[in-house]
Amino acid sequence: MIILGIETSCDDTCCALLKKQGNFEVLSNIISSQIMTHKPYQGIFPALAKREHEKNLTLVLKNALKKAHLLEKKQNKTKDLSNILSRHPVLLKKLSIFLKKYKKPKIDAIAITQGPGLEPCLWTGINFVKALAFSWNIPIIPVNHLKSHIYVNLLQKKILFPALALIVSGGHTQLILMKDKNNFKLLGETRDDAAGECFDKTARLLKLDYPGGPEIAKKAKSVMESSIKLPRPMINSKNYDFSFSGLKTAVLYETKKRKLNKKIVQELCFEIQQSIIDVLLKKTIKASRDFKVKSIVLGGGVIANEELRKQFKKKINIPLVLPANNLCTDNALMTCLAASCNLRQKDWKKLKANANLKIHG
Ligand code: KG4
Ligand code: ZN
Repeated sequence: MIILGIETSCDDTCCALLKKQGNFEVLSNIISSQIMTHKPYQGIFPALAKREHEKNLTLVLKNALKKAHLLEKKQNKTKDLSNILSRHPVLLKKLSIFLKKYKKPKIDAIAITQGPGLEPCLWTGINFVKALAFSWNIPIIPVNHLKSHIYVNLLQKKILFPALALIVSGGHTQLILMKDKNNFKLLGETRDDAAGECFDKTARLLKLDYPGGPEIAKKAKSVMESSIKLPRPMINSKNYDFSFSGLKTAVLYETKKRKLNKKIVQELCFEIQQSIIDVLLKKTIKASRDFKVKSIVLGGGVIANEELRKQFKKKINIPLVLPANNLCTDNALMTCLAASCNLRQKDWKKLKANANLKIHG
């Protein structure tokens, strides 16, 4: 079967096509990043992100179908989409032109991120796929974005169960016990800021660009150690929860106390990164021992961090499954993979975004 995946939960407009025939074959994986749009504001504005999704979705879909050799020209009669896309006039115009010009592609289902994420962004993707499902008469499979960050690993590797999953993204930091592929138990999560959010917010304090994670990683590389010490919040707590807002406050305090020069910024970056890695690593190892898991699975944008990958590979002594660098941050291939693991269709008329969708249940 061929699955079209669409992901618009945050600031990336993503479409991918995945073929599943025993093995997985990636037909295309297109990402239109909004980083340049959000950079001047050093963070994401949901209304702006929604507008960018509306502008870009149709073109990203076209490029994904073209790359997968599934785009065929033909003058089509189109159905009236003005009801479904009444809140998205730009999208309505662009998609209607596209549907008139191109045939229904040879795909079997459309996978869409239902949540968690930014509500206006999720709704844009959902209304887009509702219009596609209605036009092409194709089933929709809604997926959980957090599960997608885990399932993306299935492209390369098998996961041994029971497994411990660590999701570290811009919005989430969670430790999850997986008894099997479809069984998720939340062991712990952040009580305040997510690790990615901490990278982004401390980068802003250091006057670095958005997104902060890759910027901090770049600066951290220039030094071998830091003379400034920062806290490792909750590193020795008995539970599996995290907290990163204290780290952010400590960085704020350091920036007030010192005059920021190149070396101090580099050292602070080194220490921020190491503090986050230390906490994540220690809690992951503790949970993996407590629950006697057979493998550890990583996912989410922060897992793209080179130093984190290196230290996890060195310190974890059971099978470690982690996505390719370019599949850690948001993409629609992971949406396709999540759908392929649980082909539960949903009547598109009843589909709703859920900005707070939980990993369990
Ligand atoms: O998973 P993701 O693309 O979006 C969410 O679902 O939130 O994660 C984005 C987060 C951002 O906070 C970004 O700063 C962080 O991932 N990130 C990194 C790196 N690349 C992206 N953090 C640390 N090091 C990196 N190389
Ligand atoms: Zn994500």
